[in-house]
Amino acid sequence: MKLKNIILLEPQTQKEFEAYYLLRYQTLRKPWNKPSGSEKDDQENESIHLMACDENRNILGVCRLQFNSSIEAQLRYMAVKEGTQGLGIGKKLIEFAEQKAKEKSAEKMILQSREIAIGFYEKCGYRIVEKSYLMWDQIQHYLMEKKL
Ligand SMILES: CC(C)(COP(=O)(O)OP(=O)(O)OC[C@H]1O[C@@H](n2cnc3c(N)ncnc32)[C@H](O)[C@@H]1OP(=O)(O)O)[C@@H](O)C(=O)NCCC(=O)NCCS
Repeated sequence: MKLKNIILLEPQTQKEFEAYYLLRYQTLRKPWNKPSGSEKDDQENESIHLMACDENRNILGVCRLQFNSSIEAQLRYMAVKEGTQGLGIGKKLIEFAEQKAKEKSAEKMILQSREIAIGFYEKCGYRIVEKSYLMWDQIQHYLMEKKL
Protein backbone atom coordinates (compact mmCIF):
# COMPACT_ATOMS: atom_id res chain seq x y z
CA MET A 1 0.00 0.00 0.00
CA LYS A 2 1.26 3.47 -0.88
CA LEU A 3 0.50 6.55 1.18
CA LYS A 4 -1.61 9.16 -0.60
CA ASN A 5 -1.46 12.91 0.02
CA ILE A 6 2.26 13.20 0.65
CA ILE A 7 3.20 16.87 0.89
CA LEU A 8 6.72 17.75 -0.28
CA LEU A 9 8.33 20.98 0.84
CA GLU A 10 11.38 22.75 2.22
CA PRO A 11 11.36 23.33 6.00
CA GLN A 12 11.03 27.03 6.78
CA THR A 13 10.26 27.64 10.43
CA GLN A 14 12.43 26.83 13.43
CA LYS A 15 9.85 24.24 14.51
CA GLU A 16 10.01 22.56 11.09
CA PHE A 17 13.82 22.50 11.18
CA GLU A 18 13.77 20.97 14.67
CA ALA A 19 11.46 18.18 13.48
CA TYR A 20 13.60 17.77 10.35
CA TYR A 21 16.87 17.27 12.25
CA LEU A 22 15.18 15.12 14.88
CA LEU A 23 13.95 12.67 12.25
CA ARG A 24 17.42 12.61 10.70
CA TYR A 25 18.92 11.90 14.14
CA GLN A 26 16.37 9.27 15.17
CA THR A 27 16.69 7.33 11.91
CA LEU A 28 20.36 7.66 11.00
CA ARG A 29 22.23 8.22 14.28
CA LYS A 30 20.30 7.11 17.40
CA PRO A 31 20.14 3.39 16.46
CA TRP A 32 23.97 3.42 16.53
CA ASN A 33 24.10 5.29 19.86
CA LYS A 34 25.63 8.36 18.27
CA PRO A 35 25.35 11.63 20.22
CA SER A 36 22.88 14.39 19.50
CA GLY A 37 24.53 16.84 17.11
CA SER A 38 26.23 14.09 15.10
CA GLU A 39 23.35 14.30 12.59
CA LYS A 40 24.65 17.67 11.30
CA ASP A 41 27.75 18.69 9.37
CA ASP A 42 29.33 21.96 8.27
CA GLN A 43 27.41 22.16 4.97
CA GLU A 44 23.89 22.59 6.34
CA ASN A 45 23.72 26.29 5.51
CA GLU A 46 24.71 25.84 1.85
CA SER A 47 22.39 22.86 1.28
CA ILE A 48 18.77 22.48 0.26
CA HIS A 49 16.66 20.70 2.87
CA LEU A 50 13.62 18.72 1.81
CA MET A 51 10.90 16.96 3.73
CA ALA A 52 7.80 14.87 3.18
CA CYS A 53 4.76 15.35 5.42
CA ASP A 54 1.30 13.88 5.78
CA GLU A 55 -1.79 16.05 5.31
CA ASN A 56 -1.53 17.19 8.95
CA ARG A 57 2.03 18.39 8.33
CA ASN A 58 3.55 15.61 10.44
CA ILE A 59 7.06 15.04 9.13
CA LEU A 60 7.58 11.56 7.67
CA GLY A 61 10.71 11.83 5.56
CA VAL A 62 13.77 14.01 5.09
CA CYS A 63 16.75 14.38 2.78
CA ARG A 64 19.38 16.96 1.92
CA LEU A 65 20.59 18.15 -1.45
CA GLN A 66 24.03 19.65 -1.94
CA PHE A 67 25.97 20.69 -4.99
CA ASN A 68 29.50 19.40 -5.50
CA SER A 69 29.92 21.32 -8.78
CA SER A 70 27.68 23.16 -11.25
CA ILE A 71 26.59 19.85 -12.78
CA GLU A 72 26.88 17.37 -9.91
CA ALA A 73 24.33 17.22 -7.09
CA GLN A 74 24.54 14.88 -4.10
CA LEU A 75 21.72 13.46 -2.03
CA ARG A 76 22.51 13.00 1.68
CA TYR A 77 20.83 12.11 4.96
CA MET A 78 17.86 10.32 3.37
CA ALA A 79 15.56 9.02 6.07
CA VAL A 80 11.94 7.95 6.33
CA LYS A 81 10.32 7.63 9.75
CA GLU A 82 10.21 4.15 11.20
CA GLY A 83 6.67 2.81 10.88
CA THR A 84 6.03 4.64 7.61
CA GLN A 85 8.82 3.09 5.55
CA GLY A 86 7.84 1.17 2.43
CA LEU A 87 4.83 3.39 1.70
CA GLY A 88 6.34 5.31 -1.20
CA ILE A 89 7.53 8.33 0.81
CA GLY A 90 11.24 7.85 0.06
CA LYS A 91 10.59 7.53 -3.67
CA LYS A 92 8.49 10.72 -3.75
CA LEU A 93 11.15 12.57 -1.77
CA ILE A 94 13.99 11.50 -4.04
CA GLU A 95 11.98 12.52 -7.13
CA PHE A 96 11.42 15.91 -5.49
CA ALA A 97 15.17 16.24 -4.84
CA GLU A 98 15.95 15.30 -8.45
CA GLN A 99 13.50 17.91 -9.71
CA LYS A 100 15.13 20.57 -7.50
CA ALA A 101 18.60 19.53 -8.72
CA LYS A 102 17.48 19.74 -12.36
CA GLU A 103 15.99 23.19 -11.79
CA LYS A 104 19.50 24.25 -10.75
CA SER A 105 20.96 22.68 -13.91
CA ALA A 106 22.53 19.60 -12.32
CA GLU A 107 23.13 16.81 -14.82
CA LYS A 108 23.96 14.05 -12.40
CA MET A 109 22.96 12.98 -8.88
CA ILE A 110 25.32 10.97 -6.73
CA LEU A 111 24.83 9.48 -3.27
CA GLN A 112 26.49 7.20 -0.76
CA SER A 113 24.10 4.33 -0.04
CA ARG A 114 24.19 2.17 3.02
CA GLU A 115 24.33 -1.47 1.95
CA ILE A 116 20.80 -2.06 3.25
CA ALA A 117 19.33 0.71 1.07
CA ILE A 118 20.89 -0.24 -2.29
CA GLY A 119 17.71 -1.95 -3.52
CA PHE A 120 15.70 1.20 -2.78
CA TYR A 121 18.02 3.43 -4.80
CA GLU A 122 18.14 0.92 -7.65
CA LYS A 123 14.33 1.09 -7.81
CA CYS A 124 14.73 4.86 -8.10
CA GLY A 125 17.06 4.48 -11.11
CA TYR A 126 20.50 4.64 -9.47
CA ARG A 127 23.41 2.34 -10.26
CA ILE A 128 26.39 1.34 -8.18
CA VAL A 129 29.64 3.02 -9.20
CA GLU A 130 31.87 1.46 -6.52
CA LYS A 131 32.05 0.09 -3.01
CA SER A 132 33.17 3.18 -1.10
CA TYR A 133 33.67 3.39 2.67
CA LEU A 134 32.88 1.69 5.95
CA MET A 135 31.12 4.01 8.40
CA TRP A 136 31.77 3.54 12.13
CA ASP A 137 33.57 0.26 11.29
CA GLN A 138 30.21 -1.35 10.53
CA ILE A 139 28.05 0.21 7.81
CA GLN A 140 29.36 -0.43 4.31
CA HIS A 141 28.59 2.34 1.82
CA TYR A 142 28.38 2.27 -1.96
CA LEU A 143 28.76 5.22 -4.28
CA MET A 144 25.74 5.34 -6.61
CA GLU A 145 24.75 7.71 -9.41
CA LYS A 146 21.96 8.63 -11.80
CA LYS A 147 21.95 10.83 -14.86
CA LEU A 148 19.26 13.47 -14.47
C1 LIG B 1 15.76 3.51 2.63
C2 LIG B 1 14.54 4.42 2.80
C3 LIG B 1 14.98 5.88 2.68
C4 LIG B 1 13.52 4.10 1.69
O1 LIG B 1 12.37 4.93 1.83
P1 LIG B 1 10.91 4.27 1.84
O2 LIG B 1 9.90 5.33 1.95
O3 LIG B 1 10.90 3.22 2.89
O4 LIG B 1 10.88 3.59 0.39
P2 LIG B 1 9.65 3.56 -0.66
O5 LIG B 1 8.45 3.08 0.04
O6 LIG B 1 9.55 4.86 -1.35
O7 LIG B 1 10.18 2.45 -1.65
C5 LIG B 1 10.33 2.59 -3.06
C6 LIG B 1 10.64 1.22 -3.63
O8 LIG B 1 11.88 0.74 -3.08
C7 LIG B 1 11.66 -0.49 -2.36
N1 LIG B 1 12.50 -0.45 -1.15
C8 LIG B 1 12.38 0.38 -0.10
N2 LIG B 1 13.36 0.17 0.80
C9 LIG B 1 14.10 -0.84 0.29
C10 LIG B 1 15.27 -1.50 0.75
N3 LIG B 1 15.87 -1.17 1.91
N4 LIG B 1 15.79 -2.49 -0.03
C11 LIG B 1 15.20 -2.83 -1.20
N5 LIG B 1 14.10 -2.21 -1.70
C12 LIG B 1 13.56 -1.23 -0.96
C13 LIG B 1 10.18 -0.51 -2.03
O9 LIG B 1 9.73 -1.84 -1.87
C14 LIG B 1 9.58 0.17 -3.23
O10 LIG B 1 9.49 -0.74 -4.31
P3 LIG B 1 8.24 -0.68 -5.35
O11 LIG B 1 8.33 0.65 -6.04
O12 LIG B 1 8.48 -1.84 -6.24
O13 LIG B 1 7.01 -0.80 -4.51
C15 LIG B 1 13.85 4.23 4.17
O14 LIG B 1 13.36 2.91 4.28
C16 LIG B 1 14.73 4.53 5.38
O15 LIG B 1 14.78 5.66 5.83
N6 LIG B 1 15.44 3.54 5.93
C17 LIG B 1 16.26 3.70 7.12
C18 LIG B 1 17.36 4.74 6.95
C19 LIG B 1 18.26 4.48 5.74
O16 LIG B 1 18.76 3.39 5.57
N7 LIG B 1 18.45 5.53 4.94
C20 LIG B 1 19.28 5.46 3.76
C21 LIG B 1 20.65 5.89 4.10
S1 LIG B 1 21.73 5.77 2.68
